[in-house]
Amino acid sequence: MVWSQLWTAVVTGVLFVPPAISQQTGNNPDWPRWCGKVYEAGYPNFDPGGQTLQPPPHPCGCPLLHVQFQPRYSLYLSTEPYGEFVVNAGFSPYHGTPWPPTNSTTQWANRFIFSINSVETDAPLVQATVPVNTTGNLFQFNLSRLGPPRLDPYPVVLYGAPESGQPSWTATANISYLPDKTNGSVTRIDNLKGGLWVKNAASNNTFAPYLPYGFYASHDNFLRENDTKLIDYYQGLGLTGMVPLASWGEIPEMLGYMDRIDLKYMYNLRYGYKNLSYVEENVLQARDKPGIFAYWTADEPDGWQDPFPLPPLAHSHIRTLDPYHPVAITLNCQNYYFAEYSLGADILMSDVYPIGINSTFSKWGTECNATHGDCGCDNCRGIVQDVSDRLDTLSRYETWLGLWPKTKFHNPQSFHGQDYWLRDPTVEEEHVMNVLAFNHGAKGIISWLWPTSKILAEAHGMLARVVTKSPTREFLVGGDGVDGPVGVGAKVPGTGVEVVDAAVWVDRKQKKALVGVVNGGYADIERRVEVGPVVNVTGVDRTLWGEVEWRVEGGLLVVDRLPALATSFVLVNLRG
Ligand SMILES: *[C@@H]1O[C@H](CO)[C@@H](O)[C@H](O)[C@H]1NC(C)=O
Ligand SMILES: *[C@@H]1O[C@H](CO)[C@@H](O)[C@H](O)[C@H]1NC(C)=O
Ligand SMILES: *[C@@H]1O[C@H](CO)[C@@H](O)[C@H](O)[C@H]1NC(C)=O
Ligand SMILES: *[C@@H]1O[C@H](CO)[C@@H](O)[C@H](O)[C@H]1NC(C)=O
Ligand SMILES: *[C@@H]1O[C@H](CO)[C@@H](O)[C@H](O)[C@H]1NC(C)=O
Ligand SMILES: *[C@@H]1O[C@H](CO)[C@@H](O)[C@H](O)[C@H]1NC(C)=O
Ligand SMILES: *[C@@H]1O[C@H](CO)[C@@H](O)[C@H](O)[C@H]1NC(C)=O
Ligand SMILES: *[C@@H]1O[C@H](CO)[C@@H](O)[C@H](O)[C@H]1NC(C)=O
Ligand SMILES: *[C@@H]1O[C@H](CO)[C@@H](O)[C@H](O)[C@H]1NC(C)=O
Ligand SMILES: *[C@@H]1O[C@H](CO)[C@@H](O)[C@H](O)[C@H]1NC(C)=O
Ligand SMILES: *[C@@H]1O[C@H](CO)[C@@H](O)[C@H](O)[C@H]1NC(C)=O
Repeated sequence: MVWSQLWTAVVTGVLFVPPAISQQTGNNPDWPRWCGKVYEAGYPNFDPGGQTLQPPPHPCGCPLLHVQFQPRYSLYLSTEPYGEFVVNAGFSPYHGTPWPPTNSTTQWANRFIFSINSVETDAPLVQATVPVNTTGNLFQFNLSRLGPPRLDPYPVVLYGAPESGQPSWTATANISYLPDKTNGSVTRIDNLKGGLWVKNAASNNTFAPYLPYGFYASHDNFLRENDTKLIDYYQGLGLTGMVPLASWGEIPEMLGYMDRIDLKYMYNLRYGYKNLSYVEENVLQARDKPGIFAYWTADEPDGWQDPFPLPPLAHSHIRTLDPYHPVAITLNCQNYYFAEYSLGADILMSDVYPIGINSTFSKWGTECNATHGDCGCDNCRGIVQDVSDRLDTLSRYETWLGLWPKTKFHNPQSFHGQDYWLRDPTVEEEHVMNVLAFNHGAKGIISWLWPTSKILAEAHGMLARVVTKSPTREFLVGGDGVDGPVGVGAKVPGTGVEVVDAAVWVDRKQKKALVGVVNGGYADIERRVEVGPVVNVTGVDRTLWGEVEWRVEGGLLVVDRLPALATSFVLVNLRG
């Protein structure tokens, strides 16, 4: 019996499992698998492996000092005099070296004393100290001490120790110090806050905070039409970014038009990212365009179980051809070789499509669980919180693996069908999922798939017009002096209701904070809801998004009734 016959037997209800197969328990690469799990009926259940697990704590049970550092921005340009390093010296249960106890009372007690040097010349760039168990420490240095601007990165090394000199720590990083680029665009990632900064002619060649909000856009029924009015409608909604599902050769006029109207795009390499000649041919066409803000290589390589080396190979090839733009990868799986599949990305996009699914039993006639089946949203519960849970999960894997956190985008569901998704999300669900994503650290929104329904197109445009513009954008993208998002308590006193989610971004210089609040439940909360305490808040400046009228009482944001699926962005004043 061949597999197509087996499948026919399954769909016609005559489930016949050949004994040779049912007795096997191994992992056969020829079986139909998604995220490593077999998803068609008739195959045995087995553990697909590849899970990222919480590492065991260090046997000493003592504080381990985990020292990491990165340049503040993913690249610097020859026009800039100074760069910065971010130094993290946090205690970790998993990574690092035990920090020795001390009885010292000098000014160096419990400080990590370090030097950051150029690997090539040994020139010291920063010599300083940080208190142990602190992260996000910034140190400025003179970029020209690295050497001349060049296309290859400069390797840098950090050496450090406590006052006693023992033990010692070493960490390495690369810093890009590039010749300025005055044509096309340049995008850099803020390695501390995660946001994107782009410069091109439209920004007068200065880096401006950029919050991409848009769609993966179809070639058929859209780009192929070669009609600039369709692009104008898209941009007119308020959308600020696109991932066109077509290459330069297919839609030169459309991409050229987007360049002219500054509708930025992530350039699509998904159809040929495994073929470095294809990558090269396309990067050479795209790299000097004013509209490009990133490249997209692999679409769900974890779902398809693409060979591990391919996304990093594409990444490094792009980097040698174009060091001015980051590379994004879309991940689909909740826990399948995260370290391997995130390796080739500067930006991780997360496909979490939970609305209208049956999260426990699939169209293939199988159960869905941690080791088996595919229900359209990997290890999801089929609820709006799957979106924020996934972003938290990916961040947790980075902590467990000791990796520097990558910038993350959310890919909202703006479709239904394929027998996985019974319906579109509603407008309210769409807003809830996106505000949850921002509250949990998303720095961009790229929805699947354009064209979508008029209702969802307008729903996304409404939110995009707020979050991609001042003042909301400056908080969400982050920058100097803006911290967050930090989750804040949200409670419904006297109940166990836990569907309210809130986060705060604080701008100490302007004495303002942005508070994002979501009621992720489908019922109105007909009683007082309290958010906070939000540090030192004195009053509401204004509501940037949503209908809920929050007030401030004793440092808390308060409302007497919170409608089902309500979302808010509120600008509040902080004590001076
Ligand atoms: C610190 O002082 C205590 C009490 O005097 C002593 O027992 C301990 O050995 C000292 N620790 C170190 C690291 O010197
Ligand atoms: C390190 O800082 C964290 C977060 O501020 C805190 O929870 C923890 O107790 C600190 N660890 C030690 C050993 O001081
Ligand atoms: C940076 O260092 C170079 C070489 O040491 C020096 O010529 C230059 O004046 C310094 N620039 C700044 C802005 O300090
Ligand atoms: C720095 O970049 C080089 C390639 O240019 C790479 O081989 C090396 O692993 C990188 N080092 C770090 C610490 O990222
Ligand atoms: C853009 O500028 C770079 C140098 O910065 C140059 O090599 C390249 O040819 C220019 N591209 C175009 C299309 O003018
Ligand atoms: C653009 O940049 C130039 C040079 O830095 C500056 O003189 C000019 O005022 C800027 N224009 C705008 C509109 O920001
Ligand atoms: C797209 O439209 C432009 C302007 O109307 C036209 O010059 C071009 O030939 C068209 N391209 C395609 C592929 O149809
Ligand atoms: C790889 O890409 C090149 C350039 O587009 C193309 O000519 C070649 O046929 C591709 N190879 C394969 C195996 O698809
Ligand atoms: C999922 O499908 C199974 C089998 O058809 C059914 O029993 C179950 O009720 C469905 N669950 C949901 C949430 O629709
Ligand atoms: C997942 O479902 C398969 C197929 O029904 C079953 O054999 C397996 O025990 C389940 N695994 C878990 C972890 O529940
Ligand atoms: C709150 O305000 C006081 C007085 O201005 C200040 O000392 C304190 O640092 C502030 N707290 C926070 C967490 O910002």
